[in-house]
Amino acid sequence: MTIKNKYTARIIENSDDIGSNDTNNKPMVEIADIFLSRRNLIKTTSIVGAAAFLSSSIARFAFADNLETLPYITFEGISHGIDETHHIAKGYNADILLRWGDPIIHNASSFDLYNQTASAQKKQFGYNCDFIGYFPLPAGSQNSNHGLLCVNHEYTNAELMFSGLNQKNKKDLLTKQQIDVEMMALGHSIVEIKKTGMSWAVVSDSSYNRRITLADTKMLITGPAAKNVHMQTSQDPKGVEVIGTLNNCAGGVTPWGTVLIAEENFNNFFGGTFKDQTQTKSYERYGLKEEAEYPYMKFYDRFDLSKHPNEVNRFGWMVEIDPYDPNFVPRKRTALGRFKHEGAGVVLNKDGHIVVYMGDDERFEYIYKFVSKNKFIPTNRHGNIDILDDGILYVAKFSENGKMVWLPLLFNHGPLTPENGFENQGDVVIHARKAADLMGATPMDRPEDVEANPVNGRVYAILTNNTKRTNEKIDAVNPRANNQAGHIIEMIPPGGIGKNADHTALEYQWDIFILAGDPSKNDAKYGATSDVKDWFLCPDNCTFDQKGRLWIATDQGSDQAQFGIGDGLYVMETEGSGKAIPQLFYRVPKDAEMCGPCFTPDNKTMFVAVQHPGEGSTFDNPSTRWPDFNDKMVPRPSVVVLTKQDKGIIGS
Ligand code: FEO
Ligand code: CA
Ligand code: CA
Ligand code: CA
Repeated sequence: MTIKNKYTARIIENSDDIGSNDTNNKPMVEIADIFLSRRNLIKTTSIVGAAAFLSSSIARFAFADNLETLPYITFEGISHGIDETHHIAKGYNADILLRWGDPIIHNASSFDLYNQTASAQKKQFGYNCDFIGYFPLPAGSQNSNHGLLCVNHEYTNAELMFSGLNQKNKKDLLTKQQIDVEMMALGHSIVEIKKTGMSWAVVSDSSYNRRITLADTKMLITGPAAKNVHMQTSQDPKGVEVIGTLNNCAGGVTPWGTVLIAEENFNNFFGGTFKDQTQTKSYERYGLKEEAEYPYMKFYDRFDLSKHPNEVNRFGWMVEIDPYDPNFVPRKRTALGRFKHEGAGVVLNKDGHIVVYMGDDERFEYIYKFVSKNKFIPTNRHGNIDILDDGILYVAKFSENGKMVWLPLLFNHGPLTPENGFENQGDVVIHARKAADLMGATPMDRPEDVEANPVNGRVYAILTNNTKRTNEKIDAVNPRANNQAGHIIEMIPPGGIGKNADHTALEYQWDIFILAGDPSKNDAKYGATSDVKDWFLCPDNCTFDQKGRLWIATDQGSDQAQFGIGDGLYVMETEGSGKAIPQLFYRVPKDAEMCGPCFTPDNKTMFVAVQHPGEGSTFDNPSTRWPDFNDKMVPRPSVVVLTKQDKGIIGS
């Protein structure tokens, strides 16, 4: 497929955009603006004779609106713009905590940009930080001043890491040494951090500090795909272990204190002739091409599909790591399905089951949830460690009437039979996209984070954009053609608000929360006001604060200049008069995206990841030198600490 995009680096990140779903799962609807009519009905509940199919939705809204009306956010939103540095709302501080190359492990060398090596990188903070999880110390406490920071490193920008490269020539010019650095810069970092007064610092010789990489970290394959014939390679004839993880985008935190890290655009790392014809359809469904975006197969056979046709099946999973145990062998939890995992919204349901909400970040892909078979045991941390190996994976199907169902992806259920190529549950999870196609799931506008709001109990699915959606393909839940700006939907479990919501249920309701974009220029829809100063584009990752407010990180890709606003972190109420009216809290430097928003339990610190500052430019001529602003230093992806100057709660 030809990709027209001015930045190759963004091609790699946004290969999410390519879209490989050619099924005809065109769920419902001709009625594109049903959302608007539902909204109007909801706002003016005095309207009599509303269509019958809306009545339950209205009742639910009336119930939700009985929640205490929360005070509106007190800070003044900062202005839109694009420049070389970052910006935060008045009254707050933004301090750099961790940059690419910062030494984090005992005896690490200090960062030497001009002589970077894989062995140095192995002990240093990795590249392109994304998801952040905060784990209090000691384990099980709510300590907000001392903990472990778990940070994903999604991908690399070789043209910003090494001199002499650009987006066009890097595939040909990258050396084995440079690729070794890249493979060591991917994955994950676990770093002990401590707060003294108002400032956070890394505990640099901590025995907790750890790097997980693509190059050298052994992982176990667990759950239904373990030992599957499609998971076996010459290196691992049993199909039970694999070296490394890659393209770790967002993630999640479990109630037993482990981190889940998502393997997103894994297809970019593999290439070569599709010799194993039995796999061609599966390769195509996952966007594999004979020419890999990352030229690792030049030096490492395992990325060459013609030589190792199954290695690629060992990527595209959700990986679990126990950050409190430095010797823990990471586990690829295959029960959660194989797709371009964005993140994991983990919920401890009221009945003790664990529910994990997940998005497959590509145009026209699906929203999934996993429900554990076993229940969480609060008194035995280690007793929960393999809970994600057994349960049911579901995929979402939306209807135009505000209802949605979760369809189980189970071997021998419906079309998931040997006649359609499934011999067992391992095959179902390895080919989760195909299973979801056959079940009739609803193709969405690039599902990114899917997270439950602990206060109101609704689940927010972030749909970043989809410029390939045509008028013929719009439906009630993806209501805009050429959706450049993205939108956010609410999925509403039955059972009540907050902890009463039943996340194991198979029927939910849904509604549209926001249609993003510039309200003066298009059909964007925010809350009940026409004066939305801090409009935004391309919502991506999210988190909630103690009050249930939604914090949204944006990722416009290479379109920043086109729209004239940088990426950043926006906050909005999810209830009351401020509902769905965004305010801009923090803005990233030029050509960066905003990732990883994460609060400490006391909500007095927020960690964010500034990913790929300067992307689209080069090492030799960078568009910014944030955060060091030193002529000898390139821009560096970094974790930033946000605090309130009066030591108060963020957003209070
Ligand atoms: Fe890595 Fe879907 O963003
Ligand atoms: Ca990203
Ligand atoms: Ca993302
Ligand atoms: Ca994204």
